[in-house]
Amino acid sequence: MALPTIAILGTGSYVPERVLTNDELAKLVDTSDEWITTRTGIKQRRIAAKDQATSDLAAAAGQAALRDAGLSPADINLVIVATLSPDMPMPACATIVQHKLGVPQHAACFDLNAACSGFLYGLDTAWAMLSSGRYKHALVIGAEKLSAFVDWKDRSTCVLFGDAAGAVVLGPSRGDGARIIGSRLYSEGGMKDLLCIPNGGSAFPPDNNSVSNGGHFIKMKGREVFKVAVREMEDAIEEILEQHGLSVDQIACVIPHQANLRIIDAISKSLGVSLDRFFINVDRYGNTSAASVPLALDEARKAGRVKRGDVTLLVAFGAGLTYGASLVRW
Ligand code: COA
Repeated sequence: MALPTIAILGTGSYVPERVLTNDELAKLVDTSDEWITTRTGIKQRRIAAKDQATSDLAAAAGQAALRDAGLSPADINLVIVATLSPDMPMPACATIVQHKLGVPQHAACFDLNAACSGFLYGLDTAWAMLSSGRYKHALVIGAEKLSAFVDWKDRSTCVLFGDAAGAVVLGPSRGDGARIIGSRLYSEGGMKDLLCIPNGGSAFPPDNNSVSNGGHFIKMKGREVFKVAVREMEDAIEEILEQHGLSVDQIACVIPHQANLRIIDAISKSLGVSLDRFFINVDRYGNTSAASVPLALDEARKAGRVKRGDVTLLVAFGAGLTYGASLVRW
């Protein structure tokens, strides 16, 4: 049996209604619109409602991606949700999303945590599973409600993050040349203290102390993360292009993880690719971790930045530190 060529058949995204601006944040902590804008490029972010969990954002993005692909939940037999903020430690957010969407029980559903690189890890995993011919259509979703894990008293982190979800439907290429060209994943373990949520897992289970000490919030050494992120994403881009014999000029649009405009700018300069070839929406959503790349990808398509035949490069880094890059032809 010839193994199938796998393509992205549809994209979708969802962002909560509530907009939180820099000026509003300046009323919560000692910061300013000017500081946040010049250091990060972020102007605003979205915050999920109290009664919205990560699975709600994920299901809305998944539904939009299914519509875009012209498929129904019954066509899906694999659901992967990349997230570091699942509804609860168990069951997997993907099973809750399955139920909310009405994906039938013959589907395999699981979560994957590679922090902000999670979507690229999910894409690679689903690509491999579909390429085997054992699964036909996959829903790969990156979804986060980071506002639940942000310390709203810590100005060094609370200005950076937001809530969102993005999704793609993967399946057999429809004979139009569209396909996933390649994917490279990496992890530089040993840097967990640069970016983590220290408490709430098996190493430090939640107790009264951990809650009052804020150990269940995101902790970050921003300057160190910045330097490693730039190096890792540059390496991932250079390696994947070399592996597939492509030059950077053949990439129509780069869709990077949206953590900080200065990080994207540093990569653009070192690669010699002008910033306008990157799709950027960090100004509107901040860092939405695993949702960042699929949200940007969906917006880039809707904005006409990704056309039939184009090759796009997706690149991300995150806690771990994990990182990776993918090449997709449309
Ligand atoms: N408002 C005002 N001042 C702030 C502030 C805020 N929100 N946050 C930090 N500061 C202050 C610091 O206290 C520090 O003050 P000091 O000089 O008196 O000590 C000063 O600003 C500079 O802090 P620094 O951390 O060196 O700033 P920076 O230029 O490195 O920018 C980040 C900070 C977090 C924006 C930047 O390091 C970054 O984006 N790093 C990468 C983070 C990231 O991508 N994380 C996600 C990974 S997936």
